[in-house]
Amino acid sequence: MLKKTIIKVAIIGCGDIAGGYDERKEGEGIFSHAGAFQSIPNVSIVAASDVDESRLKSFCRYWKVPNSYTDYKLMIKENTVDIISVCTPDSTHYSILMDLLEMGKTKVIFTEKPFVEKVNEGINVLELAKRKKISIVLNNQRHFEECHKELGKRVANGEIGKVQSVCIYYVKGITHIGCTIISNLRYIVGDIEKVQALPPRDLGSYPGDPTIDCVLYLKDGSKAILLGCDKYGYNYSIYEMDIIGTHGRIRYEENGDMIRIFKIKQYDHYSGYYELKEDVDMRVETDMQFSMLHIAKYVADLSTKNDVLDLSLAEDGLVDIKIIEAIYESVKNNNCLFNIAN
Ligand SMILES: NC(=O)c1ccc[n+]([C@@H]2O[C@H](COP(=O)([O-])OP(=O)(O)OC[C@H]3O[C@@H](n4cnc5c(N)ncnc54)[C@H](O)[C@@H]3O)[C@@H](O)[C@H]2O)c1
Repeated sequence: MLKKTIIKVAIIGCGDIAGGYDERKEGEGIFSHAGAFQSIPNVSIVAASDVDESRLKSFCRYWKVPNSYTDYKLMIKENTVDIISVCTPDSTHYSILMDLLEMGKTKVIFTEKPFVEKVNEGINVLELAKRKKISIVLNNQRHFEECHKELGKRVANGEIGKVQSVCIYYVKGITHIGCTIISNLRYIVGDIEKVQALPPRDLGSYPGDPTIDCVLYLKDGSKAILLGCDKYGYNYSIYEMDIIGTHGRIRYEENGDMIRIFKIKQYDHYSGYYELKEDVDMRVETDMQFSMLHIAKYVADLSTKNDVLDLSLAEDGLVDIKIIEAIYESVKNNNCLFNIAN
């Protein structure tokens, strides 16, 4: 019998998304890189790196990773791997990605979001990746969840009529969490043409990354408003999206775990008056608790393919960074309306 080839993974940054979420999970689901890769039969995490030695040790002990390093460059020099996961804080992604691409020792990089914080950084990363022929998969895990895929189609097919407005609640930074929200808004509702920051109300809870309130103008003529909910500090996570159409409403709730559909119904108390009521039979519990596994399987499969260079998610992520940069430009220019550069 042929022996199955083992796909080797190295992880940089051993915190929550690398493994911590699964180490502390209650109930079903897979929420981390290590949890997802360890669930795929022919994948093995062979090395890990973290600047925090005690976290590195506990991670490697928990996930049975044989090789540990405080210097990721040394890890990459000493190990031949098919996939490198980048799970460090946002501000480190650019320099780590550039180092990994320069070293050129892997086929696929699986990076956390935002993959960069500035447009020019994203352009540099994508140019080098093309030159080195190394795929970069950005962990936009919602794109790999079936209900999210369907939701975009349902909105496009007019299930709630023409979209008029979207209201989104969020916390923890226009770049840190905003990049996911903007990506998801574009994925489900459509492309964004212009942005306008609202006058400063608060700075939010995420250091160096304000939770900016803003209006996003979509190409279809609808508007989305993003409202920060961490004015007095971070007490909980909230990511909700309320999509109001001409003939219905979609409420995207619980960080994407739940989708509720509302339809036009006659008012309970008298005739000739209509309101939006939830159709509870159409309520959808999504498969978000396994979206990490779906994307990890995609990454593992990609690493087995020769001659396939996939930068599509990173290229798409760069569009989110362009939009965020335009929001910052609006802030700098007295909250003016700002076009997204092509
Ligand atoms: N896709 C998602 O749904 C999702 C969810 C959570 C976090 N994230 C992203 O994942 C990244 C990490 O977030 P987290 O919550 O796991 O953070 P965390 O603070 O729990 O973990 C980050 C780890 O990286 C280590 N580190 C920092 N600099 C390093 C370096 N130069 N080399 C090696 N290790 C280094 C830290 O010591 C820490 O252990 C962030 O960019 C965040 O935006 C994504």
